[in-house]
Amino acid sequence: MIFKQLFDNKSSTYTYIISSGKGREALIIDPVIENTKEYLNVLKELNLKLVKVIDTHIHADHISGLNELSKQTSCSKIMGSHSASEVIDIRVKDNEKIKIENIELISMYTPGHTDCSYSFFMKDRVFTGDTLLINGTGRTDFQNGSSYDAYDSLFKKLLKLPEKTFVYPAHDYNGKKYSTIENEKKNNPRLQVNSPEEYAEIMRNLKLSNPKMMDIAVPANKKGLTLKDIAK
Ligand code: FE2
Repeated sequence: MIFKQLFDNKSSTYTYIISSGKGREALIIDPVIENTKEYLNVLKELNLKLVKVIDTHIHADHISGLNELSKQTSCSKIMGSHSASEVIDIRVKDNEKIKIENIELISMYTPGHTDCSYSFFMKDRVFTGDTLLINGTGRTDFQNGSSYDAYDSLFKKLLKLPEKTFVYPAHDYNGKKYSTIENEKKNNPRLQVNSPEEYAEIMRNLKLSNPKMMDIAVPANKKGLTLKDIAK
């Protein structure tokens, strides 16, 4: 299997390229539009054919490369069924299979950070978007977020996965690349709570300022802007 984790310095976003092998089909999760060329170079180097691109949710801190990649490669654009994006080809519901050759991802509806947040489980790993971060969890104070929904997504879904499952989030701000469900259960400070109310209390008290890009990124990601659009 080919598995590449790429990092966007500006937004601290992780993007994942997955394929069963050189010369085969590939899939990208959470691309950043400014890095489109880098992704296309990796694909070319490995002789990969990009067939699917997935966004875990409508991002507020960067413009997604989903539509641009699709324009350049004709790959299918996938998001969860709750997404407000206008350019999605395939909308998955909870517990659906996304396949490329012998690789299979299972969609998990994990709202809370936003109402459109999905995670994607693949054999020994899970792509958690901003629902579960390493030593943290996604904020729940905009884009129809809900700390109660987030609690359920975390405790009733993601933390129920096998403990050895690797956690690959959409962001990390401290240089960590991955974690495991076991590690997050034990050490993530946000997850050391005994009730949804306790979790909601922590989230209520975060008092974070809005992401700098929010007013640009959210509408851009709903419309599916391309490089040409943002160059105007
Ligand atoms: Fe997010």
